[in-house]
Amino acid sequence: MLASGTFGALMDRVLDVGRVGAVVEKTITLDPRPGNPYPRVWETPSGMLNSIGLDGPGLEGWIRKRYPQVRGYGCRLVLSVAGRTAEEYGRIVRRLDALPRVDAFEINISCPNVAHGTDFATDPALTEKVVRVSKAATSRPVFAKLTPNVARIADIARAAMEGGADGISAINTVKGMAVDWRRRAPCLGGVTGGLSGPAIKPVALRMVWEIASALPGVPLIGIGGILTAEDVLEFMVAGASAVQIGTANFVDAGTALRILEALPGLLAGAGVARIGELIGTCAPRSP
Ligand SMILES: Cc1cc2nc3c(=O)[nH]c(=O)nc-3n(C[C@H](O)[C@H](O)[C@H](O)COP(=O)(O)O)c2cc1C
Repeated sequence: MLASGTFGALMDRVLDVGRVGAVVEKTITLDPRPGNPYPRVWETPSGMLNSIGLDGPGLEGWIRKRYPQVRGYGCRLVLSVAGRTAEEYGRIVRRLDALPRVDAFEINISCPNVAHGTDFATDPALTEKVVRVSKAATSRPVFAKLTPNVARIADIARAAMEGGADGISAINTVKGMAVDWRRRAPCLGGVTGGLSGPAIKPVALRMVWEIASALPGVPLIGIGGILTAEDVLEFMVAGASAVQIGTANFVDAGTALRILEALPGLLAGAGVARIGELIGTCAPRSP
């Protein structure tokens, strides 16, 4: 799958989306949002910081401008939504659910770049409520996208499943900061931002593994720093049954296809007949 916010309007001219599993749209909010002050992205060693701030045309603007572009995609279409309250999540999901060409929802309760953006996914009770309200607004699958900026991710994942989620997407970006010491100022206009890319892969793997260990069998979408087919298989062994590619799309919009082409040889070389055999097989090293 291609991760929310990392696959823009022109990228579908570079990559044939008919060959990937799904596109997760950039998060849709109720009202249009201007986003955060510039600069909004900052390169760091092994990753990038972004402070986009969920800019976008709002719910009706998305339906008018973007839906006509994505409704013809030859892959599953997952809509990412964010509201200011649980009720707002329900309202957005209900409206989008009326569109014929939607396969699933990803509830973004984890954006670190907007005021109150991660409040939901840092509190189990709020997480459960948002998921429950969203689930009541659609008959399609609902995935809860969690933030890594918590001490006990499995507690949040459990709350999301109790709220009726069909699965968990983990993780969103790790809150970070870059400083320009000469200017004595933060590098990002939004001061702090979300770290993504290879730098966060170990954090994402650990969190996927913690959720899989605490909630065996829960459908898990692994996200964070995936660049190669090897990365994908690591996430599957840790417990993910699907993955999303994010920052790597900015390096090479064809990353997902490169990975798809590399997977069969990698599996055959290791004597693995079906990729599904790997899911959640991570066991402690024997002495
Ligand atoms: C520029 C940028 C914009 C993003 N926008 C969103 C967004 O709108 N909604 C969302 O849920 N995640 C958003 N993300 C987070 C990614 O979907 C993903 O969870 C995160 O970047 C970790 O994966 P990666 O290391 O493969 O990029 C964004 C990430 C980046 C780099």
